[in-house]
Amino acid sequence: MAILHNILSFGALVVSVAAQTAITVNTATTYQTIDGFGFSQAFGRAKEFQNAPSAMQTQALDYLFSTTTGAGFSIIRNRIGSGGSGDSILPNNPGSPSANPQYTWDNDDRGQVWFTQQAVKYGVKTIFADAWSAPGFMKTSGSESTAGYLCGSTGHSCSSGNWQQAYANFLVQYVKYYASIGITVTHLGFLNEPDYRPSYSQMQISSNAQEAISFIPILYNTVQAAGLATKLTCCDAVGWQTTATYVPNLVNGGSTKYLSVITSHSYSADPSSPLTQTTLPKWNTEAGTGDASAFVTTWYSNGGIGDGMTWATKLANAIINSQLSAYLYWEGFENRQTQSGSHLVDTFDGTTAKPSGIFWAFAMWSRHIRPGAVRIGTSGSVSSTIIGAFKNVDGSIVVIFTNTGTSAQSSKISFNGFSPKSAAAWVTNQSNTFATTGATLSGGAVTCSIPGKSVVTVKLT
Ligand SMILES: *[C@@H]1O[C@H](CO)[C@@H](O)[C@H](O)[C@H]1NC(C)=O
Repeated sequence: MAILHNILSFGALVVSVAAQTAITVNTATTYQTIDGFGFSQAFGRAKEFQNAPSAMQTQALDYLFSTTTGAGFSIIRNRIGSGGSGDSILPNNPGSPSANPQYTWDNDDRGQVWFTQQAVKYGVKTIFADAWSAPGFMKTSGSESTAGYLCGSTGHSCSSGNWQQAYANFLVQYVKYYASIGITVTHLGFLNEPDYRPSYSQMQISSNAQEAISFIPILYNTVQAAGLATKLTCCDAVGWQTTATYVPNLVNGGSTKYLSVITSHSYSADPSSPLTQTTLPKWNTEAGTGDASAFVTTWYSNGGIGDGMTWATKLANAIINSQLSAYLYWEGFENRQTQSGSHLVDTFDGTTAKPSGIFWAFAMWSRHIRPGAVRIGTSGSVSSTIIGAFKNVDGSIVVIFTNTGTSAQSSKISFNGFSPKSAAAWVTNQSNTFATTGATLSGGAVTCSIPGKSVVTVKLT
């Protein structure tokens, strides 16, 4: 480890040149594949986006999806409605699980069809459709918005019968409606926060996941019988501590052979270490400040929940230290909802789209670390800095530094198994958003500086 620390003193003026620390990227050491980064426009936000003034709408779409000027988000999460007419494709109870369901499709899906089409135009390929609940008549509570279980799942019989197959048919029908307009739903979930009891769409499972374990094979077989390649996900718990409880049960219950992704939210607990019971990819499918912070453009103030730097650190902990394959924020665009930090792009003046500080934390990851990238090894360390390296499908390598300390650092990056021909670097900190910063390539190694409380993304081709 080469450390250079020069203090040049000119009378009263002291210029401190940060210690330059050597690290090595080892391309032969591989970890998880990155599926992408994303967000949702559920609960009417897609329609709000669709109805936004067109110049602002274009600005917001560019911020969210452009890989040259924006974050290049690559996953969207749509809500499969379970309510009444205009929300659900099955607003009315057919009377019994075996009766013929009267599905309806308005080709709009609360603006989510338009929103998905915009995402696809920018190259988004990962479309995650997630049901918060089964329709109310399929549940023990009889309502989609009160706590209840899926009738017929393990431990829950209902006088109306076993609705598991009917729920699977309903979910597959939703995917087929999207297929009929040329949109491939790639991932399908049947739960949202089943460990939480709010007064909107929701469905419960037990901590041993027995209801999910009984339903997952039925859903899998229904997807297969329909000739679809849709991948199944579970279970979008409210926090990773619950997911850590579900996962061993899903493994022991035989569910993981039907699943493609383990999904969780991070409201009640962030991911803190890898879940090793299954090799399935793990996605953080929802996160946000909720109303704990207003919508702010702050990068770093005091380490609060609304700071971009706070989320930069969460992303580094999730992707590097917990080996997640995807990370989704809650909502993307909202129009004049700046009292809440639930979303990434808003407007203060009603005409100009503005990204939050949190948006830039995501962009530092998602613009250059593209779907299919594989995380690769690094050795050596830089003080107060979380380091990750990724190899994209096109062969480029991205190294991302998250300096959580207040002192500037500097690093010299060498490579095993790669010879960089060009280097570029970008910095986001309190005074810069995705600004070009120096990356000096010499003798196959790259030198860059990393300001305190910043993220620096270095791309090598
Ligand atoms: C932000 O980064 C730039 C570029 O490295 C640096 O010049 C500036 O001092 C940093 N600002 C803060 C507040 O650290």
